[in-house]
Amino acid sequence: MSDNAPKENKRIVSGMRPTGALHLGHYFGVLKNWVNIQDSHECFFFVADWHALTTEYADPKRIKGFVPELVKDWVAAGLDPEKSVLFQQSQVKEHAELHLLLSMVTPVSWLERCPTYKDQLQELAAKELNTYGFLGYPVLMASDILLYKPGFVPVGLDQLPHLELTREIARRANHLYGNFFPEPQAMLTPDSKLPGLDGRKMSKSYGNAIGLSEEPGAMKKKVMSMLTCEKRARLTDPGDPKECNLFPYHELLTDPARLPEIVDGCTHATWGCGDCKKLLVESMNAFLEPVRDRRKAFDKDPKLVWDILEAGNAKARARASRNLDALKKKLNFIF
Ligand code: TRP
Repeated sequence: MSDNAPKENKRIVSGMRPTGALHLGHYFGVLKNWVNIQDSHECFFFVADWHALTTEYADPKRIKGFVPELVKDWVAAGLDPEKSVLFQQSQVKEHAELHLLLSMVTPVSWLERCPTYKDQLQELAAKELNTYGFLGYPVLMASDILLYKPGFVPVGLDQLPHLELTREIARRANHLYGNFFPEPQAMLTPDSKLPGLDGRKMSKSYGNAIGLSEEPGAMKKKVMSMLTCEKRARLTDPGDPKECNLFPYHELLTDPARLPEIVDGCTHATWGCGDCKKLLVESMNAFLEPVRDRRKAFDKDPKLVWDILEAGNAKARARASRNLDALKKKLNFIF
């Protein structure tokens, strides 16, 4: 397998910032795709703890607790440490060294015009983010990716500008030092359309999320209080699944053979929103049960998550240092 032929390059790299418990939006937006490609690709998935620090630097203490929780959520969702390399960015120092080298070749204007940079500065105006580190967020991300010379990077739509920058940085480094980095392609998740409980984007900060480790009772309460289609003010008013928050959940979670029955019951007002919600609670429990079961292994053995990370860190380090050394040879920076 040649590193520079993207079509044959089945190596995958992706990361997530450790910022709290994962929810169903993360699962259907990103994780499901990660789980599915484990069997067909060589996967490196990492906890982007340095990236979390770019916005949390003033109060970094919380990050440490989020790191193992993220890995537990991954494994609970179906990532298998025997198939994928699961590791922690800050424990593979090569990420920092490549970040430094790539920062030399990245024009500041590319970073300043990055749309996510401008948006985040505004959105997170309460935090002081006029820092060198925050401006360099995409350079660190480019390093995370290019260090492993992958063919593909599974990401959500929001990360596309960063991936484009990664490709530009790769091109610039290739131009300066000779062809070295393959240009990684985005692998977009097809199914990222799970709304939050209130119809807005699912997000912990909106309070409209169902966690991957949500207890059955709490989950039921949330589902039963979901807003449904406005057309169904009374039980006898027919509704329209296309306008209802619940239906996208059924489409993702309920046995597809039952969907016609749901559509029929709603559009002919032969069953109520309460019935529809009860069915969703059942479907969601069927989905969450194996997730909860896989998480139990971590409750039994507190060391397990750290063992997984340690093994993953070692594998990632081996690959990263090999690629970084080869790059440094090109720069004549081996002493
Ligand atoms: N920026 C990504 C996010 O917020 C996280 C991330 C960091 C990442 N490094 C990466 C994703 C490398 C993919 C590849 O979701």
